[in-house]
Amino acid sequence: MKYVIAIVQPDRVDEVLRRLNEKEIHLVTVTNVVGRGRQKGVAEVYRSHKEVGSLLKKVKLEIAVNESYVKPTIEAITEGGRTGQIGDGKIFVLDLLECIRIRTGETDGVAIG
Ligand SMILES: Nc1ncnc2c1ncn2[C@@H]1O[C@H](COP(=O)(O)OP(=O)(O)OP(=O)(O)O)[C@@H](O)[C@H]1O
Ligand SMILES: [Mg+2]
Repeated sequence: MKYVIAIVQPDRVDEVLRRLNEKEIHLVTVTNVVGRGRQKGVAEVYRSHKEVGSLLKKVKLEIAVNESYVKPTIEAITEGGRTGQIGDGKIFVLDLLECIRIRTGETDGVAIG
């Protein structure tokens, strides 16, 4: 199992979610965040509202998936999030050790989707 964390532009979230849905990836956690990339939030101000301390508004998506869904997840985020401009965001893929559905006690491959 992998835990995919993606930081994307707020105006690309709908398209990313649409492409994830197309690939039958429905379970996701979405958080409004602020952050900065290698331009340190300076050169990108024209794209999104600038926050205090050179931090720009972004959206974080978190998706836990079985191995077979890792590639489709990355493809959906990349294709939905890419404009070719700086600040399009980044995807981090982490090994996921455990997943437990609280309601049933199911674990891992059963609980994850
Ligand atoms: N190494 C990192 N660690 C943690 N968060 C990061 C890292 N790189 C990017 N981020 C997050 O992703 C957001 C978008 O990053 P961004 O797309 O600007 O990356 P970049 O490396 O500057 O690439 P680009 O040159 O395309 O702008 C940042 O605002 C930050 O929230
Ligand atoms: Mg950047």
